[in-house]
Amino acid sequence: MDKKKEYSNGEVTIVWKSNLCIHSTNCISGLPNVFDMNKRPWINADGATTDEMINQVNKCPSGALSFYLNNNKQKGEQEMSDVKIDLMENGPILVNGKIELKNSKGEVIPTETTVALCRCGSSKNKPFCDGSHATIDFKG
Ligand code: SF4
Ligand code: FES
Repeated sequence: MDKKKEYSNGEVTIVWKSNLCIHSTNCISGLPNVFDMNKRPWINADGATTDEMINQVNKCPSGALSFYLNNNKQKGEQEMSDVKIDLMENGPILVNGKIELKNSKGEVIPTETTVALCRCGSSKNKPFCDGSHATIDFKG
């Protein structure tokens, strides 16, 4: 089931969308005191400073993690005019920037500033990657 959860230290709120997570574990290895899959809740917003958490959230390759500052409720998204596209080794296509994504019927699919698009064909959440490339040992 798709989940959207929020975790706050009173200053910043981290937002996690389960359907966009590609299980790269960047967050867990980058800030283990905040992100720990063995704990509940798995995100501890008191485990690091606000700046450290914002910095780590911005490194999430799929857009599953985002944040907003509680003061002004501004979304913590990068202002980008250019779109950057990277192919992750043996994984998804990472698109970073403001884009309009449409399905085959021409309907707009809401996206984050960063999205990971499946290129292995096995995702159960197409067009987004759901980490299944690792399960099928996709190479490419
Ligand atoms: S995709 Fe983002 S939220 Fe999911 S494990 Fe990787 S860094 Fe963490
Ligand atoms: S590329 Fe990740 S599920 Fe297909």
